[in-house]
Amino acid sequence: MLSSTTNHQINPAKRLAGSIRFPGDKSISHRYAMLAAIAEGRSEIQGFAESADCQSTLQCLESLGVAIERQGNLIGIEGVGLQGLRPSNQPLDAGNSGSTLRMLSGILAGQPFRSMIGGDASLSRRPMKRVIEPLALMGARIESSEGGLPPLAIEGGELKPIHYELPVASAQVKTAVLFAGLFAEGKTEVVERGRTRDHSEIALEEMGARIRRRGNTLSIQGKARLEGQKLFVPGDLSSAAFFMVAGLLVPGSVLTLHDTGLNPTRTAIVGFLQSIGGKVEMLNVDGRNGELIGDVQVSAGPLQGGTIPLEIIPGLIDELPVLAVLGTQTEDGLVFHGAQELRVKESDRIAAVAENLRKMGAEVEEFPDGLRIPGRQKLHGAEVSSYGDHRIAMAFAVAGLIAEGPTTINDSSCVQISFPKFFETLESVT
Ligand code: S3P
Repeated sequence: MLSSTTNHQINPAKRLAGSIRFPGDKSISHRYAMLAAIAEGRSEIQGFAESADCQSTLQCLESLGVAIERQGNLIGIEGVGLQGLRPSNQPLDAGNSGSTLRMLSGILAGQPFRSMIGGDASLSRRPMKRVIEPLALMGARIESSEGGLPPLAIEGGELKPIHYELPVASAQVKTAVLFAGLFAEGKTEVVERGRTRDHSEIALEEMGARIRRRGNTLSIQGKARLEGQKLFVPGDLSSAAFFMVAGLLVPGSVLTLHDTGLNPTRTAIVGFLQSIGGKVEMLNVDGRNGELIGDVQVSAGPLQGGTIPLEIIPGLIDELPVLAVLGTQTEDGLVFHGAQELRVKESDRIAAVAENLRKMGAEVEEFPDGLRIPGRQKLHGAEVSSYGDHRIAMAFAVAGLIAEGPTTINDSSCVQISFPKFFETLESVT
């Protein structure tokens, strides 16, 4: 829970230069912690995310009886096995984290007890029918607030395997079903519409589950035995994305982003920036725990712009706010559709981006599922709101670097959700 809100002033930048290491990937940290908790034996997770969201996951696991040691970014988790979680004596608090609530629901569905799980005001507005439906089909009894909103009361128990076609391209929902599949007797299958991040599949395999992909269909064998592991979390590419865009836009900049996660289901941002002329290169790519990791080198230069292809939208969904900012500085502008999911993130990110860009003097057209941002626009400094959404705060900090005059980001402390040292890191390269 965030204790205070603050405003942050961003001044126009002359040039960005230097090397940055990013905090551990948020998506991977959640998955490693949850799987380590239900594995047999101890896991040690190096580089665990400092983000408030991942701390929410650790707290929920502790409330379920899991012993966790924290030594900075090194986390030790004593796995309790598939049957070892204990009912929490208080409602589980997922804070601002949709990933915690949705993915943990898959595990709670397999427990022989009732759990309550909810979160803050923003999380309480986010749709949960997408996880309630498949988990109910597997046999869990789930109550929610009206309209399928949190908090959820999950009465778990014996689960049966299902064959489920995901109605939305969502890695969180896919993960909830795969995690629940660990507790079901037999083979659970999930069919993906669009390819989403596959960290769960990689982590499950790494920890000993039997999981296969055939085309768009994933299958997992239930009653699996997971083994505790030594795990390493790469830097978060979605945090690095703000610096990628800043490095491309601020004239004369050169940035090296070290030890960044480069899983191909996350690097659509890199491919897209390259396709519009961005000088972005992936170097020294290596593998660890089945994930790719490497450095990203960025230098400023002209960008063409264009349309973001529909099929890559799920792969860069978290990067769209900062790409919208980038769109204003391209030759042809930027257009995207197929991103209606942005309306149900930590804020309505389509409305938030449009509103803030307009405050900074830009023209922007809003669609139900996307945006059109004309190119070659001058931004002027303004007072903008984060809407309590970490990715909006950081996207508009980048906008502030290229605006004329100072920009104030209101309610900027929400950067803690994914990148607590964001402003200090930005300062270190300006
Ligand atoms: C995430 C999946 C995406 C993404 C979120 C993290 C994950 O959400 O926006 O930041 O770790 O699986 P959806 O599953 O709702 O698309």
